[in-house]
Formats: sequence, C-alpha cells, structure tokens
Amino acid sequence: MAQPIGVIDSGVGGLTVARELMRQLPKEKFIYLGDTLRCPYGPREKEQVKDFTWQMVHYLLRRDIKMLVIACNTATAYTLNELQSALSIPVIGVIEPGARAAIKNSRNKRIGVIGTEGTIKSQAYPEALRSIDHSIRVNGLACPPFVPMVENGVLHGPEAERIVASTLEPLKEMNHIDTLILGCTHYPLIRGLVQKEMGSHIQVISSGEETASEASLILAYHNGLAQGDTVPEHEFYTTGDMEKFRLVANSWFEEPIQILKLIELEH
Ligand code: SIN
Repeated sequence: MAQPIGVIDSGVGGLTVARELMRQLPKEKFIYLGDTLRCPYGPREKEQVKDFTWQMVHYLLRRDIKMLVIACNTATAYTLNELQSALSIPVIGVIEPGARAAIKNSRNKRIGVIGTEGTIKSQAYPEALRSIDHSIRVNGLACPPFVPMVENGVLHGPEAERIVASTLEPLKEMNHIDTLILGCTHYPLIRGLVQKEMGSHIQVISSGEETASEASLILAYHNGLAQGDTVPEHEFYTTGDMEKFRLVANSWFEEPIQILKLIELEH
C-alpha cells in the first residue's frame, strides 16, 4: 500500500523510534511530526498533552496515513486508548513494546523505568509490566532534566555526564534492578551515558526495536505492507527550530534528512 505511516512525538526523541521503523520496514514511507515548539510534554497536564497530540493526529490524518505510531511515552500514556478507539487505522504506542522487551531480558524480575514526570506519574509502565507478569517489581524515576538536554543537543561531554550522574543517583540506591527501561524516546540519544552511569551489569532497554516489530506484524496482518522497489522519500515536520531538529536528525540517521518543513498546528 502506497499510503505513508505517521509517527508523532513531542520533539526529536521519537526519531530514535523512527530510525528503527525505517530499518525494519525499508519499503515504507514515513511522515514524522515532532512538536518541538511545545516540547517537553512530560511536565504538562494530561488534558493539554491530549489536545496537543490530537492536533498532531489531525494533521497526519489529512495526509491519509495508514497507521499511526505514537513515538512519545508521555503521549502514549495519556492518549493511546482514546486514539485506538477513535481512529479506524491501527495505532500503536511505545509503552507495551518497551515493557515486553524488558520482561524478555530480566532474570530477577526487578525492573527500573526512567521517564518524564507524566509517564512515571501515570503508572503506565508498572501496569503494562504487571499485566504480563504480576510478580514483577518496578522502580520508577522521573528524570526532568534529560529532555531539555537532548532537545538542546547536549548529548556528550562533562555537562551531560554531570546531569546524568546526579539525576540517576536515586535509582542507583534502589534495590537490585537488572534491567532499566528508557521510558522516554529522547533517552536513547544519551543511552551511552546512562549505561556508563548505571554500570554494565544493568541491561538498558529502549522500545524502538520492539515497537517497529509490532508495526511490521500489524501491517502484515492487515495486508498493508508496502510493495515494490521504489525508495521511499520520508518527510519530517517540526513546529519549532528547524536547524536544531536537523542537527539531531542528521546525527541520528546515516543519511542527512532531505524533506524538513516548519508547520503550525491548528489549535
Ligand atoms: C517529553 O516530551 O517530555 C518527552 C517525550 C516522551 O515522553 O517520550
């Protein structure tokens, strides 16, 4: 099917999911929309995150997408069920795939989750984990400094290391997790720093890979996979600073992104 797949995020973090989607589904065309102007979503009220998410969804529905991927944990926590009931196309989020990947990995059933204030407060990860295995013990920690750091392109160096170390301090004191979920799509961009801080005995999990596998399975089930040999031209849209967006995107993808446009979302 020639229709594109829509991917939405509060900013550049969802590019980590988009990259995995493009790797696993190379024939598909993706339209990525990052609401960088209003990022972060994490500290915002639930109703506001819902409004912003719907504005992105309306924009993409006008582009006739065949599937929607919510590549933002906060938006997934607050809107996934509502969007799944309201839309006639498949809608997937990043929380259940992340929970599944962590359970596959954990040996001692003690799992840590780091995310935005909204995601941690929503309890979406503990619920997703315990719906698979009720004996899992979960330690959650909100990490508010991480998203602004990533959006500002501070991904390496002493300042980034200092912020990561001090933010993760409380988690290191929590008991014996063997697996840590990066419960925010911005965090894979600083995965190396998180891994270094937590130590090599902890497996750090991001949901991109599992989310892309789920997208692929659902499309196959609905007979909706793209056919043919045309190389898809992905499109990227941002509501904020285009140069910052391009910088992060180009550092994350192998090839520089071609189509990037600034848009205003309808309120
Ligand atoms: C945010 O907008 O605060 C971060 C995105 C996420 O929750 O994955």
